[in-house]
Amino acid sequence: MQCCVLPGRHRPEVTNRMAFALSDERIKEFAEILSRYPNKMAACIPVLHLCQEANDNWVSDEVTEYVAEKLELSAAHVKGVATFYSLFNREKPGKHQVWVCRTLSCALRGSEGIISHCEKRLGIKMGDTTPDGKITLRTAECLAACGTAPAMQVNKEYHENLTPESVDAVLDKLLAD
Ligand code: FES
Repeated sequence: MQCCVLPGRHRPEVTNRMAFALSDERIKEFAEILSRYPNKMAACIPVLHLCQEANDNWVSDEVTEYVAEKLELSAAHVKGVATFYSLFNREKPGKHQVWVCRTLSCALRGSEGIISHCEKRLGIKMGDTTPDGKITLRTAECLAACGTAPAMQVNKEYHENLTPESVDAVLDKLLAD
């Protein structure tokens, strides 16, 4: 199914926008990604991941415009992809991202308590970032670690069989980083 393939719209000139471009090294990764897909459109998601990583973990309008130009797509199409998938951040997140799974297996094994423990420990609500910019807290749908629930993902790492004590150990490390 093709969706969100809308013609590019004229945008008024916005001042003070930070231009985005990939480094030479990441341009090589970009080329390698393209080589794995039958056409440029099919590479949109991995290219967005690459650019997000290169842009402090978020997809700004400048990033969507850059990706659109590189992949010969409309900016609206790329924006549609970036806003559809929750793994793309549309605002700059904290230095570390913590996703606590709230789906069935985790819920049955106490994820609700883990979620409130995280919120209390960090003094923020799910979806927020600590005032020092260290941690963004989010809920996640099944992380595919149901057998070792409750689980959470911290950046690219999994932590499983969570208890309030094991969560504290993880959060302490992140806060000290
Ligand atoms: S339900 Fe939490 S990992 Fe599957």
